[in-house]
Amino acid sequence: MDLLKGKVAIITGASRGIGKAIAIEFAKQGCNIAFSDVRRDENMEQCEKELRALGVKAAGYPSNAASFEESEKLIEDVVNEFGRIDCLVNNAGITRDNLLMRMSEQDWDLVININLKSVFNLTHACQKIMLKQRSGSIINMSSVVGVSGNAGQANYSASKAGIIGFTKSIAQELGSRNIRANAVAPGFIITDMTAQLSEEVRKEWEKKIPLRRGGSTEEVAKVCVFLASDMSSYVSGQVLNVCGAMNC
Ligand code: NAI
Repeated sequence: MDLLKGKVAIITGASRGIGKAIAIEFAKQGCNIAFSDVRRDENMEQCEKELRALGVKAAGYPSNAASFEESEKLIEDVVNEFGRIDCLVNNAGITRDNLLMRMSEQDWDLVININLKSVFNLTHACQKIMLKQRSGSIINMSSVVGVSGNAGQANYSASKAGIIGFTKSIAQELGSRNIRANAVAPGFIITDMTAQLSEEVRKEWEKKIPLRRGGSTEEVAKVCVFLASDMSSYVSGQVLNVCGAMNC
């Protein structure tokens, strides 16, 4: 299938995990891929190699999504290299879980800056390009805990809830220029982020999921393909839960 043939996407935090799966699924649909991560390492090089093997143009950029200046420079570099940006996927994110009484100011600031401010940084830089093109799809990676909250994740849940408010606002602000914005809210997805959890915690999570299993990165990526493609041309300002009916 060629749902994204000839389009250009930029995906943050895509050297591994959900971001990498999005890059691969987009490339399978003919999309050229620019992606970022904190550093150029073997994961970034491996991801570039896998994407190019799918016959698309692909380049990894070391760039801290929490930095306003680096995000501006990233978008400038991508436009110079790829000529346009059809889809922005704000995927980069981290956790620093703790009960509120043990949560440091540093862990609050870090999570808010990397998860939420990054979405502002990249969208702010990218909107100029999309406004000129009079088209674009912005996909922001939230989480089910941004909708429902979660004990021990006040910083993370706040950042992911903030993403939802931001997404709905820019969908209203940019809609008249044919720019769509949606949030994806994955539930329990099996990646390096969730691999840090103990077997016991993982089992507890699985019991709460009606489909009785964690999701795969590909299952999240396929929803992003839909949102990036013209198949979703009248879908904007929405939060799509990808959670095996955990949040319903
Ligand atoms: P991951 O930890 O496997 O991958 C995240 C990537 O983001 C890493 O490559 C990391 O180096 C990069 N990154 C971190 N800080 C960055 C920064 N400042 N600038 C650029 N890149 C940076 O995580 P995973 O599981 O793939 O998560 C991806 C997104 O999906 C995150 O936003 C996460 O919050 C969200 N999510 C994940 C869920 C899960 O169950 N794994 C559930 C719900 C949401």
